[in-house]
Amino acid sequence: MLKGRLLHGGDYNPEQWLEHPEVLREDIGLMKKAGVNCVTMGVFSWAMLEPEEGVYDFGWLEERVRRLGEEGIQVILATPSGAMPHWLTQKYPEVMQVQENGVRNLPGKRHNFCYTSPVMRRKIRALDERLSRQFGSRDNVILWHISNELGGNFSDGACHCTLCQEAFRQWLRERYGTLERLNQAWWGRFWSHVYTDWSQIHSPASHGEWTMSGLTLDWKRFVTWQMGNFCQEEIRAVRKYSDRPVTTNLMGFFKNLDYRRLMQEFDLISWDSYPFWHRSRDEVPEAVWAAAGHSLMRSLKKAPFLLMESVPSAVNWREYNPLKRPGMHMLSAMQALAHGSDSVLYFQWRKSRGAYEKFHGAVVDHFGGDTTRTFREVAQVGVRLSRLSGLLEGTENRPKAAIVFDWENWWALENTTGPRLDLDYPGTVVEHFRAFWEAGLETDFVGMDDPLDDYRLVAAPLDYLYQPGYAERVRRFVEQGGIYVTTCFSGCVDETDLCFTGRHPLEDVLGIVPEELDAPSEEFGNGFWYDGKHYPAKTLCAVVHPKPGTEVLAVYEQDFYAGCPVITRNTWGRGAAYYLSALSDLDFLRDFYRKVGKEAGVENPLGIWLPYGVSVAERRTVEERRRAADGEKAAGDDSAVGRQPRRLVFVMNFRHEPVELSGLDGWRDAESGDACGETLRMEGLDCRILEREGL
Ligand code: GLA
Ligand code: ZN
Repeated sequence: MLKGRLLHGGDYNPEQWLEHPEVLREDIGLMKKAGVNCVTMGVFSWAMLEPEEGVYDFGWLEERVRRLGEEGIQVILATPSGAMPHWLTQKYPEVMQVQENGVRNLPGKRHNFCYTSPVMRRKIRALDERLSRQFGSRDNVILWHISNELGGNFSDGACHCTLCQEAFRQWLRERYGTLERLNQAWWGRFWSHVYTDWSQIHSPASHGEWTMSGLTLDWKRFVTWQMGNFCQEEIRAVRKYSDRPVTTNLMGFFKNLDYRRLMQEFDLISWDSYPFWHRSRDEVPEAVWAAAGHSLMRSLKKAPFLLMESVPSAVNWREYNPLKRPGMHMLSAMQALAHGSDSVLYFQWRKSRGAYEKFHGAVVDHFGGDTTRTFREVAQVGVRLSRLSGLLEGTENRPKAAIVFDWENWWALENTTGPRLDLDYPGTVVEHFRAFWEAGLETDFVGMDDPLDDYRLVAAPLDYLYQPGYAERVRRFVEQGGIYVTTCFSGCVDETDLCFTGRHPLEDVLGIVPEELDAPSEEFGNGFWYDGKHYPAKTLCAVVHPKPGTEVLAVYEQDFYAGCPVITRNTWGRGAAYYLSALSDLDFLRDFYRKVGKEAGVENPLGIWLPYGVSVAERRTVEERRRAADGEKAAGDDSAVGRQPRRLVFVMNFRHEPVELSGLDGWRDAESGDACGETLRMEGLDCRILEREGL
């Protein structure tokens, strides 16, 4: 939590209204009414901050930072590299990206810059340093926001210009040392793809080399690395005169950049969340993706994060854009907090009059000011957040279950040819996540380099590529009592996409020997019985053999592999490992994880059965954070010191209908203080925050 408050506010683009001083006055008045305590400025302001090369005009920003400060409103200050001014692209066309087909983009749009270009780097650095000098230690400037939605341009988000190609070759030289090693790693003798000179290496392209999976994987790694390198320059520039933390707005399950690596450059995580609420009356699928996005973002640093953008009403970029129904705004705001956000920030404060986003939802509409439904619902969130600030301070989520989600695995798995081309890694991972979510079991997402010691249960669906050291880490985790679940098409290749030979790297722990992998058509789909219920086996069906001592919990019912295991369990050390040979359906995952969750001792914090559409998440006081927060407060406010540790359970009803929860004796509503009694009635789209009485 920055300065002890939950942040409420969002993207503010006052440069669009400079000729209208009354708008600034109105904005500040409305911000106070809406309970806004923080705005993000400068995201796309380059042309107004540096109208001509080397000519800076910070006057308008200066006035706004000062006026907001006088009103107690904090500022997140962005570096404006997200969109380039026309003087820059005209004079230095090399700052614009080149597509994989070799064509350089024309000016315009945004996210269009080459992140290798020395000119681009020099120009943005000069501007960032000036911003840092002028604003970087203002009392109300709390955070740097580097650029915007990095990697968001085109399908692969990369620049393929000659400078980027050269940087890629250099990166490869450092990674492999010799071409011989590179050729080995990429299995270059296949189709005579042996490189004999570094200059022969070119980024993957659909009209060129797209068949060499090792190359593609390394190119994606390089793009993340180079983007991180670009960010380092911007970070160094803003840090020159400022000690404020830095962030950049991420996009959840976004494929182009390995966020886990990129975020090593940053102090805290923030992200933009735009669930497609009301796509259907069943809001659960969207609620699950939103929860998964929040959890993924939280897991990157295992710490609270910021919801940097969300929309208070409807976006403008889907085919059709439903308005948030009454109550959904509050519920989705609470959902973000439940999963670890310390803010509810919007894109955008005020709707622009013209251009691409004039119909994108905003707190302040073209008409109406504070008289709109959206404004009122935003103001209600403002009131609730200010009340919750004290309650949530020093708290965070500490799940005991984790799901492996690894970007390099995503890239490699979906790029591989065979056993099927339609594998959906995040979709599969989120299906597993959904089973946990429905049972009220919170999960982190871990990468293959992350420690597993904090967890009791780790699930690793479609864990195709094993990072170096990963198998060892899993082995130790299970040995020490952890429960590990993995599926077919896991442990197939090493970090350069070369297949393991001889045996599966976790053969001992899993207790199985894989033989074949079937990708059957629907008609050849299989099935199995587990615990008295029938489930489908489909999409991918591995034929594996149990090793002596391995329990077989379910077998295929038909075809030539009838009788072969679908579910196995192997005791290893003090823990156990499950292998799911086939992909099945959500119903199976629900039943399976309820059981395995229990075995692992992972519990829903309320300890009650949750009806469909209701989920929970817990934030609890974490000692070190509490001490830090108390330390900060101690100087001015002794009452903060020695506060009781808290365990707050957010209960969220994503159904439009009311639900009743029973078995909550001993719990009270943490906001109102009222006891829950025997049954707790929740309205449709409601969120309650509960704590145990007596705690
Ligand atoms: C992204 C961008 C914003 C805005 C919104 C619209 O999140 O960062 O600038 O374009 O999308 O939804
Ligand atoms: Zn480039």
